Amino acid sequence: MSKILKVGIIGVGGIARVHFPGWKDSPYAEVVALADPDPVALNRAAQEQGVPVRYERPADLIADPDLDIIDICTPNMYHMPLVVAALDSGKHVLCEKPLAPTPDEIRAMIEARDRSGKLLMTAQHFRFDGKTQALKAEIDNGALGTVYHARSWMLRRAAMPTRPGFLLRQHSGGGACIDIGVHILDLTLWMMGNPKPVTVTGVTGNKLVNQPGVFSIWGGRPPITPDVEEFAAAFVRFDTGATLILEVSWLLHHNTTGEDMQMWLYGERGGAHWPSNELLSTNYATQQLLNTQLQLTPTRMEPHALECMAFAEAVYHGQPSPVPAEQSLDVLSILDGLYRSAASGREIVLTM
Ligand SMILES: NC(=O)c1ccc[n+]([C@@H]2O[C@H](COP(=O)([O-])OP(=O)(O)OC[C@H]3O[C@@H](n4cnc5c(N)ncnc54)[C@H](O)[C@@H]3O)[C@@H](O)[C@H]2O)c1
Repeated sequence: MSKILKVGIIGVGGIARVHFPGWKDSPYAEVVALADPDPVALNRAAQEQGVPVRYERPADLIADPDLDIIDICTPNMYHMPLVVAALDSGKHVLCEKPLAPTPDEIRAMIEARDRSGKLLMTAQHFRFDGKTQALKAEIDNGALGTVYHARSWMLRRAAMPTRPGFLLRQHSGGGACIDIGVHILDLTLWMMGNPKPVTVTGVTGNKLVNQPGVFSIWGGRPPITPDVEEFAAAFVRFDTGATLILEVSWLLHHNTTGEDMQMWLYGERGGAHWPSNELLSTNYATQQLLNTQLQLTPTRMEPHALECMAFAEAVYHGQPSPVPAEQSLDVLSILDGLYRSAASGREIVLTM
């Protein structure tokens, strides 16, 4: 049986590769068209994936009347015009993270979404991991009570990306914050129940990238000198009174090989650690400290694939977006505040 929803992917580099299995496994959607201005990448992906229709101009894919869903996998700075054009041409849109590097671009996308009546989802794949889903269900069931403080970090040792799409602001819109900060920040806000951020104090830094001989375990010496931050830290206050301490880096003298991504959530009833999924509480009547290990929800597929499947299912059944753009707007408002605070040396009050 042919699948009902037809998908076109724009940008067929590294991340598109891990979206294909989700579209293949979805009972609702299949990829029928690809677009990329690089003809070598385009033809290779089309051949490998057996996709019949190819466009070198993304605008031609967006105009294709046979498509229902457009999956945007280009470098960050191209997300906004492509998302807006795709929504305006009546397509549902899944877009890679960050939805856009600035809050204003996300506001423009939300306006286009509301004009079109179509779905818009940010590809925050960590939300679809079995461990994450298990912890989120526990928190939604009240295991922690109100979460009043969180600490989260995504720290890498000698592990910065080496492609220009990540290292130059003209393509990426920012450095470690925009590349990996969005992952841990999205996850933390989601676990906290998406309180509204109200103030941010932050710093950014580039202490290691200019050291002679700097290298990345993912590609040796960067081919160009980045003009974006390698490190950032922030303190965020929310409208609920809750607070968050955030740290991100591509390069840090930190005891990890590759990546250390963690989150602590502290509530009135209990605490939790991700990704170990350990829950902590105290029985004050018996003065006992309680530590329990959450059982994992086994997932059949890799989270990038699951996010594509979840989007196809939501479109097919007319359900809300699994990752709404408003939640990505909060993430980018915090990062924008962090940058402004770093530049001014002051706390920034966010206007939402
Ligand atoms: N969720 C994740 O874990 C994850 C991991 C890596 C990258 N990403 C995101 O995916 C996006 C792409 O990253 P990548 O690693 O695949 O990059 P990439 O450089 O491997 O691939 C990007 C592709 O987009 C094409 N492209 C460039 N400009 C374009 C344009 N204007 N229109 C259409 N195509 C264009 C390039 O030719 C290339 O084939 C970024 O937004 C990045 O943040 C997400």
